[in-house]
Amino acid sequence: MLKGAADMKFSIEHFGKTSEDEDVMEYTIENRNGTKLTLISYGAAIRGIEMPNGTDVVLGYDRIEDYENQDKYMGATVGRCANRIGGGCFSLNGKEYVLAKNNGPNHLHGGIVGFDKKVWKSSIEGQRVVFRLTSPDGDEGYPGNLDVEISYGLTNNNAVVIDCTAVCDKDTVVNITNHTYFNLAGGGTIEDHYLTINSDEFTEIDETGCSSGKLSHVKGTPFDFTKRKLIGKDIDADCVQIKNASGYDHNYVFKDRHDAEILKAAEAGCGEIAMDVWTDQPGMHFYSGNFLDGEVRGKNGAVYGRRSGFALETQDWPDAVNHEDFPSVVLKKGEVYKRKTVFKFKKMLK
Ligand code: GLA
Repeated sequence: MLKGAADMKFSIEHFGKTSEDEDVMEYTIENRNGTKLTLISYGAAIRGIEMPNGTDVVLGYDRIEDYENQDKYMGATVGRCANRIGGGCFSLNGKEYVLAKNNGPNHLHGGIVGFDKKVWKSSIEGQRVVFRLTSPDGDEGYPGNLDVEISYGLTNNNAVVIDCTAVCDKDTVVNITNHTYFNLAGGGTIEDHYLTINSDEFTEIDETGCSSGKLSHVKGTPFDFTKRKLIGKDIDADCVQIKNASGYDHNYVFKDRHDAEILKAAEAGCGEIAMDVWTDQPGMHFYSGNFLDGEVRGKNGAVYGRRSGFALETQDWPDAVNHEDFPSVVLKKGEVYKRKTVFKFKKMLK
């Protein structure tokens, strides 16, 4: 049961048909304050989060074909293994697995047809919208039949609650995240948003954007968000880590948080609206929308240019499967992968 969610209003509509003739459903959950969470079964994605003042704080598209034609992971559930896998391969139990290299020399966000490009089974169950997907053995090169369930809830104190579970019939690797782009002002650049991240270390990246295997302290670097700072302040700093990603595209680590109770990972704010991020995941990838290019028109014709949205992707550490000293992303046969993330909206404190 989701606390504080007893009297939500649910609605369901047909969002459209994919090019493969699959039906995509759209669900809206509205709370007592008039906050609305809109979800679609394509990618088990968040398509809208509308505040009581009418501001929609997330990026999205109006048409199913726009979701199909974009490669930004807009609002989507990302998996089987989010983020990069160096060289597009890993070995598990002595066997080498070769995956698609869909991001330079690396594998990114589960491959060419990742979880973001699938139509999930969907239903309203209690106070939740639940999406289910079976990723078959060999899907995008990964071993084992993996059953995934994502459930979304909304509370009357304006928290969007995302619960994820997965189970596999073989040992596999799993790292599932949500890739919503936020813009808490409802438009414009995200460089004038404030951000705090409760972490003082991040995983360094190489020039291909993949984990180098090294951890770096944020102190004295553009990566220091331990105290509230504007995203734009150091975003173009003359620093190799920034240059490697054309901005922020880095995983912050929460060292002692694996399987712990959910803890506050970050806080962002702009104008009237602020958002707290809570999670039990061991990391959070902060991506400042450096590769948004306005190619596909957004909701109501919006053009999503560079840095018009940012993502706080709670997840495991990137390329963990190839770095023994990173927390393991191996899901053993029959074990249950279980993760929770909460995006909680509130008034911005000046
Ligand atoms: C992730 C990656 C980025 C980019 C976006 C989507 O956040 O780390 O480099 O690929 O997804 O464009």
